[in-house]
Amino acid sequence: MCGIVGYVGPSADSRALDVVMEGLARLEYRGYDSAGVALVTEDGVSSEKRAGKLGNLRAALEEQPLPDASTAIGHTRWATHGAPTDENAHPHHGGEDGKLALIHNGIIENFHALKNELLADGVVFRSETDTEVAAQLLARAYDDTADLTLAMLQVVARLEGAFTLLAVHADAPGVVVGARRNSPLVVGIGEGENFLGSDVAAFIGHTREAVELGQDEVVTITPDSATIVRFDGTPTEGKAYHVDWDAAAAEKGGYPTFMQKEIHEQPHAVQDTLLGRTDDEGRLVLDELRISEDDLRQVTKIVIVACGTAAYAGMVAKYALEHWTRIPCEVELAHEFRYRDPVIDGHTLVVSISQSGETMDTLMAVKHAGDLGAHTLSICNTHGSTIPRESDAVLYTHAGPEIAVASTKAFLAQITACYLLGLYLAQLRGGTYADEAQSVMKELAEVPEKIQRVIDSMGRVREIARFMADTRSVLFLGRHVGYPVALEGALKLKELAYIHAEGFAAGELKHGPIALIEPGQPVFIVVPSPSSEHGLHGKVVSNIQEIRARGARTLVIAEEGDEAVVPFADEIIRVPATSALLAPLVTTVPLQVFAAELATAKGLDVDQPRNLAKSVTVE
Ligand code: G6P
Repeated sequence: MCGIVGYVGPSADSRALDVVMEGLARLEYRGYDSAGVALVTEDGVSSEKRAGKLGNLRAALEEQPLPDASTAIGHTRWATHGAPTDENAHPHHGGEDGKLALIHNGIIENFHALKNELLADGVVFRSETDTEVAAQLLARAYDDTADLTLAMLQVVARLEGAFTLLAVHADAPGVVVGARRNSPLVVGIGEGENFLGSDVAAFIGHTREAVELGQDEVVTITPDSATIVRFDGTPTEGKAYHVDWDAAAAEKGGYPTFMQKEIHEQPHAVQDTLLGRTDDEGRLVLDELRISEDDLRQVTKIVIVACGTAAYAGMVAKYALEHWTRIPCEVELAHEFRYRDPVIDGHTLVVSISQSGETMDTLMAVKHAGDLGAHTLSICNTHGSTIPRESDAVLYTHAGPEIAVASTKAFLAQITACYLLGLYLAQLRGGTYADEAQSVMKELAEVPEKIQRVIDSMGRVREIARFMADTRSVLFLGRHVGYPVALEGALKLKELAYIHAEGFAAGELKHGPIALIEPGQPVFIVVPSPSSEHGLHGKVVSNIQEIRARGARTLVIAEEGDEAVVPFADEIIRVPATSALLAPLVTTVPLQVFAAELATAKGLDVDQPRNLAKSVTVE
């Protein structure tokens, strides 16, 4: 959600504003509802902020240009305390003279108490935000210390909750000070200029050298230095790393939308996630896992926690993990897991799945699991993000930056990583499937090419989507691993096209949802492979017959060569044959393409759907 950029450069030209505006544009994918900047100029701190998209801020800056500056901060806000208005947008100024400007991502939980204290002292607030409290406190601390870093240390000691803060002060030109607790912040190291950002996308156009900021740390950047201290004041050094993707990877690469680009990147996302996971003998090696093999052998239960699309990846994983490892596996929405009384102990492996690594609900579930003594493992797409840092172990997906708010390539990469985990555990613990791990890995290696074939054959799906632009409701049915695929297909359509959509387990149809079927009702059915165990294929074919007999328009996703579905399908969308457990990697793709195309036909912004944020950093 909120995006944060800070910049300190060599001389006062208009560059600081340009760098910060460019950074905010690159962070747009996080989702926001207002934007603002503050510059340290010869005359003090000047700022501008506007509700709505960055274009509103740009227009305001053109109408009333700000003076040149070499130091700037910028912010895109996703409203939590106070509506998305000009007044509530960041930056917020502090002090009677307004010499301090501050931006914030997160929620300051004790802001009421702090605000009452400041009000009693005569401070006048201009907004309804929790952020302004931090700005006022920091301005006062600066008046006492005349040192922005020391002032920040004093203030963070008083704050509870989650926050990334960046501040500038008129009397401290050439300095931006940042602080982070439970919210993201990275440092970009340039030559004679330095950057701060919510993630590296904020400064990737300028430098690929970054420093990871730890939990509870304050960073001070000047044109030539980046100095880090812990909240207790002790000096420390962040972890430096080279960003292995460039600015072009964060742009649309010739596609009309990020989502289309990301859908097309899926073969690579899966392939890259599989890369380097086996040794010379074809045995799985997961170097990043910092949980000992002994501990993993003793795991008696796996609990997967995640939100949104990532939770559906977890549901797919359950089928594979239980089948291959014989370890009982539960999947739970992270926010539900956190606030009940889960039965877990030192033999439980809690696996979190998160593209961003910043989803607050998932982070809190991971912390809770750790407090209860479980081993925690994060499956994550974002290096240096909070959830992997708070986990015992991490398995990174290598999907590359995902910019469109609704997840596509990260989903397939998450499922792939879950397969790797399952096969690794099977191999480690021995048993029936230990020997099969290598053959499944071989089959997985062929999947990227199969995904490519699906992507290349989506012409008819696009036509159907455009034809259905006025549809008011679509249902999705699936069974076994096709069930979470149906849920994800429905979620994509809700997110992108704002159409009522529901996913059901096909077996549940007769227990209620079949009452929804009326003539013309479109229903997608994700059909299991004819080679599936327990006659599942035949059972789903019967379901198709049942709904078609009641007038449903059946849109059937079926394996190449599956002729049994032909008589009951109004449309057949073919996918290459895979073994049953791996099928979601191919069957999901047509549903993503369908939702994106239908939303585009309705004239909607598929990359930034209304009301949604890419990275939901509040509970
Ligand atoms: C938000 C996004 C979803 C995403 C979910 C979990 O709701 O809009 O697309 O699936 O967060 O995000 P994560 O980064 O934890 O995978």
